[in-house]
Amino acid sequence: MEPTTYAAAHAASLADPDAFWAVQARQLQWFQEPPRPVLSQDADTGFYRWFRGGQLNTAYLCLDYHVANGRAGQVALVYDSPVTQTLRRYTYEELLNLTARFAGGLRALGVEKGDRVIIYMPNMPEAVVAMLACARLGAIHSVVFGGFAPHELAMRIDDAQPRLIICASAGIEIDKVIPYKPLVDEAIRQATYQPAHVVVLQRECATAELHAPHDVDYQQLLQAEPVDAVPVDATDLLYILYTSGTTGKPKGVVRDHGGHAVALKYSMSAIYGVQPGETFWAASDIGWAVGHSYIVYGPLLHGCTTVLFEGKPVRTPDAGTFWRVVQDHQVRVLFTAPTAIRAIKKEDHEGALARKYDLSSLRYLFLAGERCDPATYDWAGQTLGVPVVDHWWQTESGWPMLATMVGLADVPPPRAGSAGHPVPGYDVQILDEAGQRVPADTTGLVAVKLPLPPGCLPTLWRNDARFQHGYLTTFPGYYFSGDGGYQDEEGYLYIMGRVDDVINVAGHRLSTGEMEELLAAHPAVAECAVLGIACELRGQVPVGLVVLKDGQTISEELLEKELVQRIREQIGAVACFRQAAVVKRLPKTRSGKILRKTLRHLADGDDFTVPSTIDDPVILDEIRQVMSRHKMGLAFDKPETRLSS
Ligand code: COA
Ligand code: AMP
Repeated sequence: MEPTTYAAAHAASLADPDAFWAVQARQLQWFQEPPRPVLSQDADTGFYRWFRGGQLNTAYLCLDYHVANGRAGQVALVYDSPVTQTLRRYTYEELLNLTARFAGGLRALGVEKGDRVIIYMPNMPEAVVAMLACARLGAIHSVVFGGFAPHELAMRIDDAQPRLIICASAGIEIDKVIPYKPLVDEAIRQATYQPAHVVVLQRECATAELHAPHDVDYQQLLQAEPVDAVPVDATDLLYILYTSGTTGKPKGVVRDHGGHAVALKYSMSAIYGVQPGETFWAASDIGWAVGHSYIVYGPLLHGCTTVLFEGKPVRTPDAGTFWRVVQDHQVRVLFTAPTAIRAIKKEDHEGALARKYDLSSLRYLFLAGERCDPATYDWAGQTLGVPVVDHWWQTESGWPMLATMVGLADVPPPRAGSAGHPVPGYDVQILDEAGQRVPADTTGLVAVKLPLPPGCLPTLWRNDARFQHGYLTTFPGYYFSGDGGYQDEEGYLYIMGRVDDVINVAGHRLSTGEMEELLAAHPAVAECAVLGIACELRGQVPVGLVVLKDGQTISEELLEKELVQRIREQIGAVACFRQAAVVKRLPKTRSGKILRKTLRHLADGDDFTVPSTIDDPVILDEIRQVMSRHKMGLAFDKPETRLSS
């Protein structure tokens, strides 16, 4: 019998992962059932694989299955777009028809199983259709977040080598329209690999000039005859999603069809406690893992209604927009990032806008993407009157690793500051640098004992070596998350932040290593450090400290402008890199390592002890003065980073 309490489920999943996930796999309709054992290891790499030998199709499970099983007329997707003042609802049958036709159109352009397709679109139903159509054909999609600049898109084009790119003519931000087609054209110009076509969805706000036969109108593809879902192996890839690593080159996290579908289906009821037919809203972007898993695949696999929101938590039109959406679409579970709540709180501290709407449909607010500070956690709980669940995951896992599993019985209640307990399948441990478990309440490195459960990345796109080195060699037998944290006496886990060169800006994951590479390439810069300093709105923001080459006379003001522009052009506006200052020297250890953590503490106003390994402690005083002059960080009262100002 399947365990129903949290403790029993977690214990069973670790005692016999094969049996646990074989049971969960039965929740899906397979074209070919996976044989036991459902967990295996690759002979050459030793990497784990789930459900080898099974055949299914994720788009089939998201659409055809429900149409054939009584949900044809149920709303599958609600598109709520305050930025275009549009509200559209698609039933499962309508979404299936669009997807099957669009898949036919893609096939006519030569897209076949295993081909890659890049999607560069904002939160629009046509983007969801494009993702599902790729899945239907067994093609591998790679959605690129619209806030990334052409250079980032070009890197992804060269790495994924897509047969074609699907884009919208424009994205709409709070107070501006951003034409996307010129960005795609520029990315293709910069890339070495050349996709055969660009499929463009024309938007009224900014239509793009199309050059046939290379550019194709999105609507033209919908004229094609519908095609059936192609059976794929459970281990075949559904998508590649690039995420920031510690270097300039993003990592292509891959997701398989089988493990992903099983894990997401399980998570919808066990973690989020939603039933088929109910409305689930992940207020994220399809460009992020949260959007893939919980705007598109999870809710549709589960037969829910999903909300696709094109807007921001504030100023579209006001800080009550989230609560209006909850009311209008009877949202059961809302999932967003703490930054969104902080932005709302900043504009509606008393929660007056929340009281304007009927929020009685809402059962839980789930938060993830960055550490949730207790003040935000408490404000959300008081304002909404529902339990707030902070849960922890990464692009790599694709679904939560720590949570309060509201769908299971006897689950320890959520607690401010903690991301909860390990989800079944995850043996989360806090280790010291030598790989030994640390005692309770001691901060260490967060690792997960192998095997990872279904849904997690099996490797990186065409880069087994980077997967091995990036995640598996730090602690043999474990996946290393890159996060630091601790576990308390009662077993609650606390994720305190990254221990590598990755930062979280408004829940968006960015690499300070990449930013340093870009700053260092400026002709005036001898060396530099980019730090993720605390920001009360966005959690963290990057700032740069640069040392000039000898003899450089560029003014500090002009240099800052050029460096800010450089990051904006190369990574994108989403990086929120807005400050850079010149320093005489950077603090280093005697072995030459820049003491970035110490610099961060300085900017954040934390108490810290000056590391004994520092080569010259006087440098810190010099830098303190520079930061103060530039109002760089909470310690120096930078107004933009303060909510209370
Ligand atoms: N396409 C193009 N540009 C984009 C973009 C997109 N999809 N997303 C963001 N940008 C741009 C913005 O226009 C802005 O540009 P600017 O510097 O010219 O003003 C910049 O990137 C920073 O964007 P953002 O951080 O979104 O700032 P904002 O002021 O527009 O909004 C918040 C602030 C807090 C409301 C917003 O960051 C937010 O909603 N955060 C929550 C994020 C979230 O849900 N993350 C979940 C991931 S799981
Ligand atoms: P991403 O891959 O973009 O989802 O970012 C993953 C990173 O976000 C993790 O490694 C953490 O640093 C951070 N993160 C995600 N969820 C949480 C959380 N609930 N608490 C603290 N940090 C989180």
